[in-house]
Amino acid sequence: MTEPLLSRRRFLQTSTVAAAAAALAPNSIRIEAEPNYAAAAYAGPNDRIRFGMVGIGMEGSSVLATACGLPGTECVAAADLYDGRHTLAREIVGKPIKTTRRYQELLDDKSIDAILIAVPDHWHKQVVVDALAAGKDVYCEKPMSHTPADGLAMVAAAKKTDRIVQIGAQRTSSVLCHKVHEMIAGGAIGDLNLIEATMGRNDPTGAWEYPPPPDLSPQNLDWDTWLGTAPRKAFDPLAFARWRCWKEYGTGVAGDLLVHLISGMQVSLGINEVPKRVSAFGGIYRWKDGRNMPDVHAALFEYMGIPVYMRLSLGCESAEVTRFQGSKGMIELKEFSVTYSPQSGEDSSPSYYTASYPGAMRAAYLKEWHEKHDPPPGKEPAPQSITINGNDYDDLRPHVWNFLEAVRSRKPVVQDAVFGHNAALACHLANESYFRGTPVRWDEGSQSIKSLV
Ligand SMILES: NC(=O)c1ccc[n+]([C@@H]2O[C@H](COP(=O)([O-])OP(=O)(O)OC[C@H]3O[C@@H](n4cnc5c(N)ncnc54)[C@H](O)[C@@H]3O)[C@@H](O)[C@H]2O)c1
Repeated sequence: MTEPLLSRRRFLQTSTVAAAAAALAPNSIRIEAEPNYAAAAYAGPNDRIRFGMVGIGMEGSSVLATACGLPGTECVAAADLYDGRHTLAREIVGKPIKTTRRYQELLDDKSIDAILIAVPDHWHKQVVVDALAAGKDVYCEKPMSHTPADGLAMVAAAKKTDRIVQIGAQRTSSVLCHKVHEMIAGGAIGDLNLIEATMGRNDPTGAWEYPPPPDLSPQNLDWDTWLGTAPRKAFDPLAFARWRCWKEYGTGVAGDLLVHLISGMQVSLGINEVPKRVSAFGGIYRWKDGRNMPDVHAALFEYMGIPVYMRLSLGCESAEVTRFQGSKGMIELKEFSVTYSPQSGEDSSPSYYTASYPGAMRAAYLKEWHEKHDPPPGKEPAPQSITINGNDYDDLRPHVWNFLEAVRSRKPVVQDAVFGHNAALACHLANESYFRGTPVRWDEGSQSIKSLV
């Protein structure tokens, strides 16, 4: 079995930038990488989960290696439409396993307990619905759905069974997000009044201009099936590798990146809901390579009556951060840390407005202010920021483990189908607002997206 292959973030993690970020700062506390809620229910070698992997591409290869590296699992089969990935699956698992182009063969295998799915977005619904109908527990990559209708069908399929469904936005299992939740719920920042989040890249790989496998051909790839429900088109290696660029297969920066910010925010706030309204703007500014999804996308949501402003860019590199702002301070959630900066919400010095008072009036004001507010000598306050450093919140292990634990214990996962649907719906709303050029909302009655103007 090989180590998980390097994703972009996992690659960056090895860089000096990440090393510096992970270093302990003054006033910092380190918390355990593996969260308590993932405490082992695994009973030993006879308590193995036999699973099949569907889609062994860039992410599926990491999910497969991660799952194989956790105790009590055994990958018995893998399905992919491209034969090169059958070889890759066997390399990762490190022993002979069944490989096939047809995922249905994994569903027919009664000895398989769970199916892990990492196919492009336009295939999520069908594989999940089929796997649930076959009685399998399911782990499916984010964004859960390609369209709102797909999401509704997936939630309905999940509700019809007692099978476990975990959606794969992994930071929902991060101890850092759970720490933020604990702090906000405990009143650390008072009344929340604004959330902002941002994330930016500026390189071809970050913008999904991936190099297709050099040997890819209609002989070793079932191209017709790969297209799924998308419009028919001739074999296109770029569409195969760079599907995120086109709405026919992917969901743009919203489904690729924003969904992580939304999912992390939902867990941090302890909410699981659709935003009340969304207004988004963006464009294709940097990567004019024939894509039809924006490479810069800014979305302003209303959640819980407050603005949540999220900005994604493939046109300029910027650190990923979510800031929760409230009347008593701010919490900054970053890839490796949570920083809490308290604020008193009080004046710390006389109001500068009084510079507009005549001299005697100002002197009287200043005297009274100092009498009332100056701390006794030696008792000057020293509010401290605290940084908590943790494992990379993009780490797959706790999230896959949370799923495997649920398969054994039948207890709820951290990110079920309803959670995944709500997070994906926020992304669909952001995309729809971008394409329509109007603010939009989700209409529960008609289960559809409506324009607000
Ligand atoms: N959680 C994360 O951080 C993260 C990171 C990257 C990708 N993802 C998600 O993972 C999913 C896969 O992304 P990727 O980058 O690995 O894509 P990819 O194109 O690299 O791999 C997808 C694989 O699925 C196969 N496939 C497509 N349809 C299939 C079908 N019907 N049956 C069997 N195999 C099929 C393709 O042949 C391909 O090998 C996407 O939904 C993506 O959003 C999540």
